[in-house]
Amino acid sequence: LPGVEVLDITWFTESMEAGKPVTVEDRHRIGDAFEILSQNYEFIESEGPCLAFMRATSVLKSLPHAIHSLQDLEGLPCLGDQTKAVIEDILECGHSSKVQHVLSDDRYKAFKLFTSVFGVGLKTAEKWYRRGFRSLEEVKADSSIHFTKMQKAGFLYYDDISRAVSRDEASAIGQIVEDTVHLLVPDALVVVTGGFRRGKEFGHDVDFLITTPETEKGEGILHNVINELKHQGILLYYDIVDATFDKTKLPSKRFEAMDHFEKCFAIIKLNKKLVKCDGQEEFAGGKDWKAIRVDLVVPPVDNFAFALLGWSGSRQFERDLRRYAHYEKKMILDNHGLYDKTKVVETKSFQGKILILIV
Ligand code: TTP
Ligand code: MN
Ligand code: MN
Ligand code: MN
Repeated sequence: LPGVEVLDITWFTESMEAGKPVTVEDRHRIGDAFEILSQNYEFIESEGPCLAFMRATSVLKSLPHAIHSLQDLEGLPCLGDQTKAVIEDILECGHSSKVQHVLSDDRYKAFKLFTSVFGVGLKTAEKWYRRGFRSLEEVKADSSIHFTKMQKAGFLYYDDISRAVSRDEASAIGQIVEDTVHLLVPDALVVVTGGFRRGKEFGHDVDFLITTPETEKGEGILHNVINELKHQGILLYYDIVDATFDKTKLPSKRFEAMDHFEKCFAIIKLNKKLVKCDGQEEFAGGKDWKAIRVDLVVPPVDNFAFALLGWSGSRQFERDLRRYAHYEKKMILDNHGLYDKTKVVETKSFQGKILILIV
């Protein structure tokens, strides 16, 4: 068919026509279905199936070779009976009844909506859901709710920050952050990380790592950057989290996602004039600026490479990397370093690369 690309993957199942190819569209439908199911399991706090569907999505995305039979599919990791049933459903009738069911579920719809607000996690979503709220208007209209500073900003800039950040917008933000940091410390390192470092075209925020080659020069750098952005009148919201970095206590908990680096979750006002806008897309509300979510992380230079690895994502890749380090290499990897209990291992980050010294 014109316009339909056929992948080098072909699945046969007994109930399917032999040789029916799996198209890119099928694969997207399956991936989207898995993501919906996975998120629904997250909302009902069912961690096992949630992870299972996330892993299945990754496997699907990264299949390196052709698959010609059900047997080949069975040889793949992370595809169990549940995920296969969904795949069969979609290939047979174009959709999965399981997914349709989730999409029309009250709790799923409410959680999806509530957690789309910056500062609202599962706990808050649960609270609002239990109080009977089903829309953001209902939540906002209730004067008895106490909103955190973060949630207030989340509601205030909801229209802007719930829209995807483009690559051009990310570069414009990058220029602002870089210029501001270099104004204060000319030889500081400013690196984009997160989704944009992975080459994504769109993101939900822009993530940066900032570090200084000499530790003394970096002292107070985050506070100074924040003050400077405030001074420029473009800081709409910020929440600085101080470093809780203590070398004597490392490594911390296994597979821990949170790190101990000083960081700031911010919202920056991006002037339209600064964006190289190929698409000429109108900013929301006809205003000449857009609110953009920005994360700034400031690791010590010695931990820089590990921080970069840890913040590059994706979350699934980071999880798998940590599991690989643990189960295959008997080492512990986190955002601060790589540790080995049986050998004396010294790891250093050097010019953005990781050096591993085994003594
Ligand atoms: P995110 O910015 O949440 O995700 P992303 O950049 O991959 O995708 P998006 O386009 O939606 O923004 O996080 C980036 C990476 O940083 C992610 O792999 C997880 C990691 N991370 C930590 O290591 N510690 C943290 O405290 C947080 C918030 C994220
Ligand atoms: Mn510069
Ligand atoms: Mn990001
Ligand atoms: Mn982020």
